[in-house]
Amino acid sequence: MARYKVGLIGGDGIGPEVIGETIKVIEATGVELETVAYDLGADRYLRTGDVLPDATLLEIKSLDAVLLGAVGPPIGSTQVPSGILERGLLLRLRFELDLYVNMRPFVTPRGWNRFRIEPMDLVVIRENTEGTYAGEGGFLRKGTEHEVATQGSVNTRFGVERVVRYAFELADSRPRKHLSLVHKTNVLTYAGDLWQRTFNDVANEFPEIDTAYSHVDAACIHMVENPNRYDVIVTDNLFGDILTDLCGAVSGGIGLAASANLNPDRTGPSLFEPVHGAAHDIVGTGKANPVAAIRSGALMLEFLGEKEAAMRINRALEEYEIPEGAKTSTIGDAIAERV
Ligand code: IPM
Ligand code: MN
Repeated sequence: MARYKVGLIGGDGIGPEVIGETIKVIEATGVELETVAYDLGADRYLRTGDVLPDATLLEIKSLDAVLLGAVGPPIGSTQVPSGILERGLLLRLRFELDLYVNMRPFVTPRGWNRFRIEPMDLVVIRENTEGTYAGEGGFLRKGTEHEVATQGSVNTRFGVERVVRYAFELADSRPRKHLSLVHKTNVLTYAGDLWQRTFNDVANEFPEIDTAYSHVDAACIHMVENPNRYDVIVTDNLFGDILTDLCGAVSGGIGLAASANLNPDRTGPSLFEPVHGAAHDIVGTGKANPVAAIRSGALMLEFLGEKEAAMRINRALEEYEIPEGAKTSTIGDAIAERV
């Protein structure tokens, strides 16, 4: 009998291709999954008008985990209004499943020197249920000359403290034991103050952790010039969104960047997805790099407690130098074989 019931949201564009390779690699570990495919994303929306039906969400809540490929229409398409899928599907899942930790590890594979930087090994912990993503705000006199738009940022002591504590625990489990807070406390003097005080308070529980602080703009410079000054970073939702795209680019390319949307309290399934998007322009060409999705699969296995299987995938990824121009399924096969 399958040990875990896993929802698959292949989604749009290259999403289904990279999820296919991920399942191939997971099967090679011997961990048995019962998979349930969910037809969600731009395609489904355009066909039926559905984004995430309540009944589907309810079913997803009973799963052990969710693997998501990518969601979104082709760039420039006007058929899906901006925000419909982001708010209605991706963020709704993050909020409803209380996936308050967005963990994004950046590890440069051996032999990978596209940017001729030193190999990176750091983790960004991005708060995933609050900040500007909470959607506070609105319009006044919309469409008139005097229109006003406000977009607030929600920062609760509870929400900040739980993600900061998770980051301290993670830093504690790593050899360097170093944690940086990234924010913009010099300008966001309310939210920044709450984050900094919370960070300092939790730090008292972890005297063995070395702590530091960077403003987010300076963190961008460090990330390009000397990323290894960081070990674990904890940051707010929007800063984490932007910073992790930069981390992806400088650590070897966004095709390698994995992420885990975690509910550490395990009151429901966690969701695992590559950081990259649907890349409709390369669908069917074999150019999609499945490594980010496969790494996300390894994060899923690890979170489910299948540490040995996760380690085998990570070791296979480390051993395997992706040949220039290798096709999606060739990469998946090669990794599955090494596993
Ligand atoms: C990400 C994505 C999402 C985000 C979008 C698609 C809503 O960019 O996972 O980083 O902003 O969080
Ligand atoms: Mn993003």
